[in-house]
Amino acid sequence: MQKFIDIRGVKHAYKTKNGPLPVLDGLDVGVGEGEFCAVVGPSGCGKSTLTRLVSGLMRPDEGAVVLDGQEVSSPRKTVGMAFQNPVMLEWRTILENVMLPLEIVAPGMGRAEKEARATHLLEMVGLKGFEKKRPSELSGGMRQRASLCRAIVHKPQVLIMDEPFGALDNFTREDLWQTMRDLRAAEPFTCILITHDLRESVFLGDQVIVLSGRPARTQYVLDVDLPADRTIDILYEPKAVAMLHLLREQIRIAQGRDGDLH
Ligand SMILES: Nc1ncnc2c1ncn2[C@@H]1O[C@H](COP(=O)(O)OP(=O)(O)O)[C@@H](O)[C@H]1O
Ligand SMILES: [Mg+2]
Repeated sequence: MQKFIDIRGVKHAYKTKNGPLPVLDGLDVGVGEGEFCAVVGPSGCGKSTLTRLVSGLMRPDEGAVVLDGQEVSSPRKTVGMAFQNPVMLEWRTILENVMLPLEIVAPGMGRAEKEARATHLLEMVGLKGFEKKRPSELSGGMRQRASLCRAIVHKPQVLIMDEPFGALDNFTREDLWQTMRDLRAAEPFTCILITHDLRESVFLGDQVIVLSGRPARTQYVLDVDLPADRTIDILYEPKAVAMLHLLREQIRIAQGRDGDLH
């Protein structure tokens, strides 16, 4: 059965002056509607390339990316994106930054309605009272919270995140993970998250896909069979610890090393 996001047999090579650089070589990923899919893999294996294919910024050489029954061939307004370094417009307030996608996707929506939607999301992520601030007045973690609001303000079909928490310190990052789960409980969305943090992948994911080294294939798929209302403490429970060990081992295989070579 076709999944909501269905990535089948995707191959892709970049054209470089030294000839083609094969990056993806047989990628299969299926994500059900409302599911959260975390993707891990060695540095440079093609994870960001995958996000470009799903968001329609690029087309694969072979295979297909199908979203809700339709092949993705160009950028879509129904995709939300979040990156490691959120690009915020300094001349706009935080509230106005969050409203931005609505101005593009829902030009007919009245200002009051846009403001209400953005205000509601900012409150949900703990930024009530910061609506009128400028991006530079916020900490990195707060800016990332605002950028999450901006990524989902227009209720995208799919949220794609490329290492969004990578630049944050550990505790801030864990807070953001919890916020992410709270947001998801309040507003279901389908998500692909690229991360190099295995704990993040297990805490946030319904499934974790491990990509092999470049050119990347789907090497392993872990079904994260943990309760939906998890808190950070769950990562210390034996079931989660066993998953982390298993993923670590898979990453070693992906890196083409055995456990002794460090
Ligand atoms: N536009 C491009 N042109 C040529 N090579 C690229 C381009 N973008 C990425 N690459 C190369 O493709 C490989 C995979 O890149 P990327 O998808 O960014 O990996 P990851 O996100 O897993 O670190 C890397 O070797 C990178 O240098
Ligand atoms: Mg990347």
